[in-house]
Amino acid sequence: MATERTLSIIKPDATNRNLTGKINAKFEDAGLRIVAQKRIQLTKAQAGKFYEVHAGRPFYDELCEFMASAPVVVQVLEGEGAIAKNREVMGATNPADAAPGTIRAEFAESVGENSVHGSDAPDTAAVEIAYFFSGLELVG
Ligand code: CDP
Ligand code: MG
Repeated sequence: MATERTLSIIKPDATNRNLTGKINAKFEDAGLRIVAQKRIQLTKAQAGKFYEVHAGRPFYDELCEFMASAPVVVQVLEGEGAIAKNREVMGATNPADAAPGTIRAEFAESVGENSVHGSDAPDTAAVEIAYFFSGLELVG
């Protein structure tokens, strides 16, 4: 399998509870390398643009409010099959369905406040990484 990069976000519910280190340990234990990382606070408009694929869904407005409510940590994870591997480490969107040991099973508070974002495919990963990071910030 090829080396891939994927975009990860540690969401406000997790930064509020000081869980950045515990979540990063899950990535590193799974063999994912954090090759870029920064803590930022999104505006609602910036969150809305990031999640524009969900515009019109009933949860969209609340999701954008939530993502702008406190700092997030945006990061690029690299590794063999990193996109699917990160989805595995994250667990299902709804923590009630997330497998034991996954980030969402251990830390998520609800289907909305579910601690992490991860890209779902190579094309979305490329767009999402470019939304937050310039080439100069990706040193591998
Ligand atoms: O994050 P993931 O790719 O697992 O799920 P998604 O279907 O792409 O949804 C994006 C985000 O919207 C989720 O992670 C939740 O924070 C939120 N969401 C929600 O609040 N209620 C739903 N029924 C579905 C998603
Ligand atoms: Mg998604």
